[in-house]
Amino acid sequence: MSFKRLSEVDVRGKRVFIRADLNVPQDDAGRVTDDMRIRASVPGIRDALSRGAAVMVTSHLGRPTEGEWTAQASLAPVGARLSELLGVPVPLVRDWVEGGAWNTSLEPGQVVLLENCRFNKGEKKNVDELARKLAKLCDVYVNDAFGTSHRAEATTHGIAKYAPVACAGPLLAAELDALGRALADPQRPLVAIVAGSKVSTKLTILRALAAKVDALIVGGGIANTFILAAGGNIGKSLAEPDLVGEAKAILDEFSGKVPIPVDAVVAKEISPTAIAELKAIENVQPDDRIVDLGPTSVAALKMIVGTAGTIVWNGPIGVFEIDAFAGGTRALAEAIAASHAFSIAGGGDTVAAIAKFGVADRIGYISTGGGAFLEFLEGKELPAVAILETRADG
Ligand code: 3PG
Repeated sequence: MSFKRLSEVDVRGKRVFIRADLNVPQDDAGRVTDDMRIRASVPGIRDALSRGAAVMVTSHLGRPTEGEWTAQASLAPVGARLSELLGVPVPLVRDWVEGGAWNTSLEPGQVVLLENCRFNKGEKKNVDELARKLAKLCDVYVNDAFGTSHRAEATTHGIAKYAPVACAGPLLAAELDALGRALADPQRPLVAIVAGSKVSTKLTILRALAAKVDALIVGGGIANTFILAAGGNIGKSLAEPDLVGEAKAILDEFSGKVPIPVDAVVAKEISPTAIAELKAIENVQPDDRIVDLGPTSVAALKMIVGTAGTIVWNGPIGVFEIDAFAGGTRALAEAIAASHAFSIAGGGDTVAAIAKFGVADRIGYISTGGGAFLEFLEGKELPAVAILETRADG
């Protein structure tokens, strides 16, 4: 992959527009509950500031309706945390697309945060007119948003066509370097764990992944769809019945590689006060919800993980946020941490599980990407990276 890097660009006295991925989890009061992505974006911002650039940073947060500002999707809490980490004020600018005083009066060494770029009409559809306006705000465009590099949006793709200079920030470059190195010639067996509640986006990549890996462990809603495909009971659990055909096709083609859970922890509702029961899959009742894998299934996964050469992990295998349903994900996290394999983990829920079970220092590489991480594994072109490659020479 060949693209220009921020470190190669002279930014002194320039207006630098950094697209970061500051899409972080928040609690009901809007407080940031995991600042990993904010911390990971700091080195790029610091580098540009320390070399005398006037810096503007933006990101999306959630998926708000374009054209409608809401406090819930505002970057204000993110800005507060960013300011603490940088140790300088980080004013938040609203309605920034047309430029104006905030842009022309921004001094070298100053940084502003531009409000959620998905409030701007045309962002998600990568509307050309918007992209041209964004490009006019800067002399140098920096994409440091690995987590959003699978999206072709105005701030991740369109702007890169028109900005005078377009380059990759240190986080984007480091992610691509690390994941590329680990997966170019992985130590085998290569084991992928794909789980979590976001089902369909992941199910579609499983076929590509199944062809590459030696074992594909499924968990969460994805596993439920596979259990259905294998003729098992899932009661009222999260699943995608319309994708059962796809899951069956994967099982027919790669059955030896995809272990199907044989037991599960079930509850009548997903709540901290619900009673957890252990059941064989054939005994799961119509009003049960699968909330974790059972011990027999977890033991099988631990065997696979224990002999792996490389492990790629995206998604918790149960509702780990609730302690009574966290046993499977905890056991898996500990097995990955104890394994001699090189392990790579990515995705917001996965990172939260790693933090909860205290295994971060025993994971080989933790990516800030979720969907982008999966698409990279699948071998898909990341549009935000592809456009930077076209700007490598100018
Ligand atoms: C993520 O959290 O995976 C990224 O920030 C991308 O978010 P999106 O799926 O809303 O584009």
